[in-house]
Order: sequence, then structure tokens, then C-alpha cells
Amino acid sequence: MSTSSPRGQTRSATFFQDDFTAGLIHRTFTKSMGFDDEDMRKPVIGICNTYSELNNCHAHFPQLVQAVKRGVWQAGGFPLEFPTISLGEIYLTPSSMLWRNLAAMDTEEMIRGNPIDGVVLLTGCDKTTPAALMGAASADLPSLLVSGGPMLNGNWRGQTLGACTDCRRLSDEFRAGKLTGEQYKEVEDNLVRSHGHCMVMGTASTMNSLTEALGMALPGNGAIPAVDSRRLRLAEQSGRHIVQMVADDLRPSRILTRQALENAITLLCAIGGSTNAVVHLPALAGRLGISLPLDLFDEISRRTPLVANLRPSGKYQMEDLFYAGGIPAVLKQLLPLLHGDALTVTGHSLAENVQAAAEIHNPDVIRTLDTALDSQGGLSIVRGNLAPDGAVIKHAAATPRLLQHRGRAVVFTSIPDLQARYGDPDLDVTPDDVLVLQNAGPIGGPGMPEVGNLPIPTKLLAQGVRDMLRISDARMSGTAYGTIVLHAAPEAAVGGPLALVRDGDEIELDLANRRLHLHVSDEELDRRRAEWQAPAPHYNRGYGKLFLDSILQAPEGMDFDFLLGSDPVVAENQPKF
Ligand code: FES
Repeated sequence: MSTSSPRGQTRSATFFQDDFTAGLIHRTFTKSMGFDDEDMRKPVIGICNTYSELNNCHAHFPQLVQAVKRGVWQAGGFPLEFPTISLGEIYLTPSSMLWRNLAAMDTEEMIRGNPIDGVVLLTGCDKTTPAALMGAASADLPSLLVSGGPMLNGNWRGQTLGACTDCRRLSDEFRAGKLTGEQYKEVEDNLVRSHGHCMVMGTASTMNSLTEALGMALPGNGAIPAVDSRRLRLAEQSGRHIVQMVADDLRPSRILTRQALENAITLLCAIGGSTNAVVHLPALAGRLGISLPLDLFDEISRRTPLVANLRPSGKYQMEDLFYAGGIPAVLKQLLPLLHGDALTVTGHSLAENVQAAAEIHNPDVIRTLDTALDSQGGLSIVRGNLAPDGAVIKHAAATPRLLQHRGRAVVFTSIPDLQARYGDPDLDVTPDDVLVLQNAGPIGGPGMPEVGNLPIPTKLLAQGVRDMLRISDARMSGTAYGTIVLHAAPEAAVGGPLALVRDGDEIELDLANRRLHLHVSDEELDRRRAEWQAPAPHYNRGYGKLFLDSILQAPEGMDFDFLLGSDPVVAENQPKF
């Protein structure tokens, strides 16, 4: 499929070079913005900007856009910036995930409807990157992603801090009385020092790192800090490069193959990346007509050593990863495990991209396959009568002794129930119990919020307890840590077995055998199932209703059922009047 029209024109030329009324209208209104005929003869590069003052991670995007535009002009393109909705993690309630698919639709439809020949996607905060990739994959015009980059390391009294791993850790210490109010305020003032996305290997760092393994960004995109001038230079280079991609008709459908997706899973496992990628990658695959079953994540994780020493699983943060060689250096170590011949936006293979440049400058941050932190990757998929369609655990960020554990369930039936009771001094709970949260999945949450790292009950926190086995149908932030089983599917709100757990039931996690078992007889579960009633829907109108009516479960990527697949944009002659 080519961006050229039947007459050999680019797609934008069918808007601007038309001899009739439509062409006149397109040209005269474009001239009203100060552009001239010379501009309109160039390929149009849309710059999809997810900037918003409601999204702190993207505060520097106005400057980033200018760098991309410089590059596009230098290479003979015509850059036109357009906004799409900006999903910021910090403010959006109940969960930014509620709108990932809306952002993907926004991206796809703006590419589809406008005179665009190629697009640069500017993303950063958690959901913006998968949303942009999903939309671009479905529109299938030449596309290149530029991330905003991670924040600088936080620093407090000489300690390196990371958002938001330390938001949680130090809040727990404050709740346990180990930090004074004055110290807690100092943490607030020193934790987030710059714009950019969160700087541990959370969801944003994970998804932006994966763009390199997917082949959808130039080498280096994953780790260059947001405030480093090399981020602007990468943006300018990307602006130049997208013009060449249009000339070469290098579309996502040629890059985002099964091999590329498997490369992304391998990198995810090797860097101890976020469990949220186990939702976003199947969603992206669904746009490409590729099935990415959960068991593939487990299979790849078992054969992929953990080579990046990054929080929350390890010791360092994204700034350190960049100085150590960045994602290209990690990918170079992983080449024996990757499809090195996968095509990327550079027009070269993944192996060619990383072979020459990628050296390790700090062997404690980026390990080799021989000096890996663990012989296996950081994620596992568990199944059993509690999650017949699977659940996810980031065992690299868990307490090892809890990975083989049997305990008594303490059940919270909803997020409000959890909020009301976790601080109760009379809560019947011991450190060996298993905390269970129901009705926090895609429909139950709604939007599968990041509450899977249930807070340790306050009375246990005061006793020094810092981790417990926790199970839910929710997600958790990639910056979080603990022995936490997530994404239990099917979710409780559609009658999944998680809905049937009651206080006092015995639950067993056996990670070595990837098993999650509720020790309740099938007969008793059948009896409870017959009594079960679906919770009232969260929405009866508007976008929320569309979400509830169309959302797929977590193992299928939580896309809308009607968005699966792609519908590539083709050049069409404009109507003549
Ligand atoms: Fe945007 Fe953490 S708040 S990535």
C-alpha cells in the first residue's frame, strides 16, 4: 500500500494540488496561516503532540515540538502540529487507563482525516505511548515516535529518590512513624526535580524503552533524560528522518511484526519492566491482527536474564541507565535472544542499529548475559482456579519467601471498602494473611486502576511489616513493588472466581509451578457462583458506557472490541465541485 494516489501524488497532494474548488479551499485557508505554495508542495508531516498543562510529564513538549519541526523543514517536509488528548497519571481519576483507547482513537482519526503523509508521535507519560502506537498502527501511515524522556534522579539529603517508588516507600515510613512531618515535606520538595516521565523503570520508562525494541523510535529514545540537550537533538533528527520514511513508504505494518513484538517482550523481561506492558503489548498486537497470549510472556521471561539493574526491581534509575549506554547497550547484550533482523524505522535491522554504537559504560547498571542479576526475566504468569485466564506477577520486585506461600484471605470487596478499612486498628489480619481486592478490574474498577499494590494494613505497618501477598484484578504502577498478583482474569465484576473468595479461605501461590490456587471445593464455589450478583454498572451514559460495553479483558489488552485490526490510510482524490 502506498501513500501515493493513483496519479502518483502524495496523499497531501490530493488535498493541495487539486485543480478544482476543493484544492482552492485547502490552499487558500492554509495560506491564511502564512504558508505558501512552496510549503504545500512538500510532504506533510503531522506532529502529534500530547502536551497539556494537566500533564506534568509533558511540560517541555513545546520545545520538543520546535526541534522536530526544525528537522522536518531541514529535510524538505512541511510540519503541521496537532494536539491529541493528553493522559497524565497524576490527576486523571479513576484511572488514566479509562481513556487509553480514546487517546488511540483520537490519534488514529486525526491522522486519518487530515492531509498527512507521515507522523511524529510525541509521548511520555504512561498511557500516551501505547495509545499513540495503537492509533498509528491502525492508521498505518509512516510513523516515528519521540519520547519526552525520563526525569532527572530525585535527591534528598544525599539519597537518590525515584518517582514514584519512593512516594510509596517513604509514605509508608511516614505512616509507620519513622519520618517526621518536616522530613516528609522535604521529600515532597526534592523528589521530582525536572519535567519528563517518572525515572524508575515504571510504566512510562518501560513503554518508551520498548519503542526501541519494537523498532518504532530512533536508537537512544528510551533513556535520554528529558532535560538533556541530546533529547532535543534526537527530536530534530527524528524530524529529518520521518521525511525519508515517507519517501520510502516505511509504514508500521512493515515494522510492527510478530518478531518486533517478541523483541519487545524480551526487552521487557530483561529490564524488569512494568506489568502494564502485559496489557499494552497485546493491545498493540490486536491492532496488527497478531495474537500475543499471556503464556508467551512467561515463556520469554523464563529464557531471558534480568540484565538491567533498575528500580523498582534493582538499584539504579533511568539517568544512570542512559550514562551506562542506554537501551541500545541493553539490546546489544540481548542480541542472541532477539530477532536481530527485524526492520526498524531507521530502515536498518535492530541488530544493525545497536551493533556499532552500543557500549556498556557501567557494568553494574547494565549486566551481560553472564553477569545477569537473575537467569530469568522479572515477570511471571500464574494460573489456577483463582485466575483461569491468567494473572501477572513481577516476581523480581517481590519478597522471595512469599513467592511460595499459603495463607488466609482477608477480602476487600471494592476500592472504597479497602479505603475504609485498611487503617482500622481492629482489622482481623496477620502478616501471613493474603490481602484480596475484588472489583478493581477493567469493568469493576472501572478502568482497572493501579491499586493492586494494596496498602499494608496500618497496624501491621507499625509492627514493621513491609510486604504481604496481595491479589486482585487491578493493575499496579510500574514504579510499585511487593509480592503482588495482578490482572486476575476473568475479573470479579464479570463473575470471575476472584469474586467468590471469602474471608478465611486459604489461598496458595506456588510461583515455581506458576500456580495460584483457592483451596475451596468446586461444589462450594458452584454454590457461591449461583448466589453471585454483578455489581451495579459505574456508568449508564457517555464515554463511560461505551467503555463498559466494549472493553476487552486484561489478557486481550483491554482494547475496545470494535478497534481491533487496522484500516490503512490510502491516498484518495478529494471531491471536485
Ligand atoms: Fe507521568 Fe509518572 S506521572 S510517568
